[in-house]
Amino acid sequence: METTALHVEAGAGCDILIEDGILDRAGEHIKAALPRAKRIFVITDTNVSPLYGPRLVASLETHGFEVHTRVIPAGEPSKCAGELVALWEWMAAHGVTRTDAVAALGGGVVGDLAGFAASTILRGVGLVQIPTTLLSQVDSSVGGKTAIDLTAGKNLAGTFYQPGLVLMDPETLRTLPDRDFMSGMAEVVKYGCIWDAGFFDFLAARPSREALMGDIPRILRTCCDIKRQVVNADERDTGLRMILNFGHTLGHAYELAGNYTRWSHGEAVAAGMAAAAKLGVELEITDAAVPGKIESILSPLGLPTKIPCDLEHIRRAVGVDKKGSGDLVTLILLEKIGVVRPLLLPKEDVLAALERLAGR
Ligand code: GLY
Repeated sequence: METTALHVEAGAGCDILIEDGILDRAGEHIKAALPRAKRIFVITDTNVSPLYGPRLVASLETHGFEVHTRVIPAGEPSKCAGELVALWEWMAAHGVTRTDAVAALGGGVVGDLAGFAASTILRGVGLVQIPTTLLSQVDSSVGGKTAIDLTAGKNLAGTFYQPGLVLMDPETLRTLPDRDFMSGMAEVVKYGCIWDAGFFDFLAARPSREALMGDIPRILRTCCDIKRQVVNADERDTGLRMILNFGHTLGHAYELAGNYTRWSHGEAVAAGMAAAAKLGVELEITDAAVPGKIESILSPLGLPTKIPCDLEHIRRAVGVDKKGSGDLVTLILLEKIGVVRPLLLPKEDVLAALERLAGR
């Protein structure tokens, strides 16, 4: 059994452990990382609970923890203020103390919501992220962003709160539906685009789920290592961390246009990266070969490279993008694969360039 250990320095510091079957050893790892914790509040959802909940709980109980489990409905609507308050009440009713911990078992919705609850109950208790989807393993479980959605948009309320430990079991990806696996691949491809051309080529040579799963430990390790370096340099998302937003501004417009139901986050990001590559060429920043390279890595994975979207949705996404300030927006573009160029531009110039592209 091979274990990969990566260390995030941000916050109080946190290990990311990647290992097949680590779910069955979670109790031992949590005991070592959070030795003062007595109670563990496991937060999971209706999809993940029957698959992996009993193994996690058994391992925690074997190591002497008092375990309480809360199962939320699977899906984005659970990432809301109502569920957050319900989690606070539930933990308080079970006598949570400051040395106890929350374990988030599931995908991004569970991780973001449980992370927010852990960061705010008693002004902060321990947090262990146990991501079970590709998207959450390569992105949301690492870096300490927590969030709920508001009526005005996704992820608009949240905290920066580093977990004390992240446990990743690559075997959990085997039960992921194809569409969810490929959505996660959009974020994986993003790391190649913004950071590592060699990794991009490595992924391009593995155009199927089967081929990718054959190298999944390396894929998880590479993505988490890139994210770890970015977060170490800019935990609070005021500089370098913005590069992780490649494909996301337009991706948000597509998610909005599809009412957050038509397209998954990863699908929207895939099309957002393809569009950002074209926009970069239009603005004479991006090498002309990049859009073709991005399309040819995404298409075999069944990810969209174009999503119909009217300008109003693009305006709204560019307007409310958290990475903007005033009339300016930070656009994340590529010079070439592996070389990213953040650019602060007037929102109107970006919209005009997008309008020109849409007209072709
Ligand atoms: N998902 C982007 C970030 O963690 O900054």
